[in-house]
Amino acid sequence: MVRLTLLVLAATFVASSSFTPRVFSHRRSSPLFEGGSMKVADAGVVDANVYNVNLEKAAATLTASVQVEKSAVRAPGVPFLDSKSKDYFVDDETFLVSRDGGLGLELLELAGGRDDGFGITIVENVVKGSNAEKAGILAGDSIASVGIPSPSFVFGSGEILADVRDCECRDFDATIAVLSSIPEDVDCIVVNLKRVRRWPKIQLRVEYPPSQCAEGVSNVKDIELFAGENLQRAMLNRGIILDDPGQGKCDFCGKNSCVVSVYGGRKLLNPMGLTEEKLMERNPRCRLSCKTTVGYNMAEGDVNVRVNLSQWSSKEEK
Ligand SMILES: *[C@@H]1O[C@H](CO)[C@@H](O)[C@H](O)[C@H]1NC(C)=O
Ligand code: FES
Repeated sequence: MVRLTLLVLAATFVASSSFTPRVFSHRRSSPLFEGGSMKVADAGVVDANVYNVNLEKAAATLTASVQVEKSAVRAPGVPFLDSKSKDYFVDDETFLVSRDGGLGLELLELAGGRDDGFGITIVENVVKGSNAEKAGILAGDSIASVGIPSPSFVFGSGEILADVRDCECRDFDATIAVLSSIPEDVDCIVVNLKRVRRWPKIQLRVEYPPSQCAEGVSNVKDIELFAGENLQRAMLNRGIILDDPGQGKCDFCGKNSCVVSVYGGRKLLNPMGLTEEKLMERNPRCRLSCKTTVGYNMAEGDVNVRVNLSQWSSKEEK
């Protein structure tokens, strides 16, 4: 067996001398989660790849951040890949890649030129038919670490690899150094990479009781929510006043404004818990907005709700 080059090296080399990781004490890289990245759709309901972006978008979105304080997910002071925009986030992906015949990756340095080797390097091209392509690596991905599996390793078993070599937020040379450090006789490597994805959105249509609108004013407000947002908080944050004296006060919080009825997109909401299910038994169309998450499992689409339910006249049907 002849092993060809480990990598097809980069044709392009864009060095930027002005790379400085941004520093945040409390970094929010996404609207909903702390830390530089998160894994979406663990339940596998939605294929996260529908939110992938192209190479240009990934290159324009990636940045390096540093956390000053330790958090649950990362150490302080170590640069990590992060999204510049709250409309995108950095996701984690892991692939088992054969090295027989080389990986077939072309890398591109987006930022570098520092003595410490920190920078940003992404995959610029995945060679057709290569091992990297077969594994599922895409242009725009950035390699975060490479693991050497034990002989008995089963991919997806959750086994923690003993030998993992980190290359998140490294310049071109430092990334290549990590990839080339893997002994020749290793047939397969576990590649952990960072992939930029668009945050899925929910288009929420909120209908007010028509009686609450002045003549000629629409009783409908359309707002855009991120998948994963709490329905009640999202509406309040966007200036929708929930106050419905005709509704009974809630046993949990004493408010009267929680119940909404759902006219469309119910499958985009989280399933009801037992308590909510019991409370809503006689109102199958309704949800407690404070217990409702939109875009459950990172699903995307349209949701339609009515609020201030006791103020809808019976003709209008709430
Ligand atoms: C809900 O009802 C309250 C009290 O009548 C009112 O002030 C508020 O504007 C209403 N909100 C909406 C969204 O219709
Ligand atoms: S605000 Fe009380 S149950 Fe929702």
